[in-house]
Amino acid sequence: MRLIRTENYQEMSLEAGKIIVKKIHSKPNITLGLATGSTPKGVYDYLIQNHKENGTSFEQVNTINLDEYAGLPAKDPQSYHYFMGQNLFNHIDISEGHTHIPNGAANDLDNECRRYEELIKDLGGVDLQLLGIGQNGHIGFNEPGTPFNSRTHLVTLAQDTREANSRFFHSITDVPTHAITMGIASILDSKEILLLVSGINKAEALSKFMNGEISEDFPASALKNHKNVTVIADRDALKYC
Ligand code: F6R
Repeated sequence: MRLIRTENYQEMSLEAGKIIVKKIHSKPNITLGLATGSTPKGVYDYLIQNHKENGTSFEQVNTINLDEYAGLPAKDPQSYHYFMGQNLFNHIDISEGHTHIPNGAANDLDNECRRYEELIKDLGGVDLQLLGIGQNGHIGFNEPGTPFNSRTHLVTLAQDTREANSRFFHSITDVPTHAITMGIASILDSKEILLLVSGINKAEALSKFMNGEISEDFPASALKNHKNVTVIADRDALKYC
């Protein structure tokens, strides 16, 4: 595991953005694994800026998002489909049909999970997966206790995750109770992983990740079983490391 220490969120985003752009230039038809939430927004801003100012093209890139809330259609402003459009896809030249996010509004959610897992395989797997981490150590929506051999599946969101994510909703009662997420085994199949960690509210989780044991009680610890993980963290997040 490689650790890149940065001063702050901006520098963390810049470091991650530079790595991603370099990968796109060396493999224009790369499959990128993407995340939502506060953590990757700065990286997406960097990618948009780089596309506009340096002409980096996403035309041949495919993207696979980690997760989506169950029950929210793509056009719902709280959906991850909407988030990705607003924060990245609408501002770059990515081809229609090349962006993939689980369909949280599917009639048969278990079937949707199977379809998504097949899709990842059909695309040749994820080349580079971008990850954030939850305060409880979740990756994607794989909450503590999720088996390390899990594939894309339907989850019941932990109460603390719903509380953490309620900042994006009017109230906690509006936060969906379920989601579709790539499983831990699906994530570990990625050829390379970038884990981004920023802010004092992630310091305990990062310290647990860096110093704790590998256990299903702390999903991110599974990443220690992967050969090519880079952690990019800022000074606040590294406070207890
Ligand atoms: C989002 C995702 C989640 C987030 C995590 C951290 O697609 O999979 O695991 O990465 O909840 O969220 P933020 O970045 O908002 O702190």
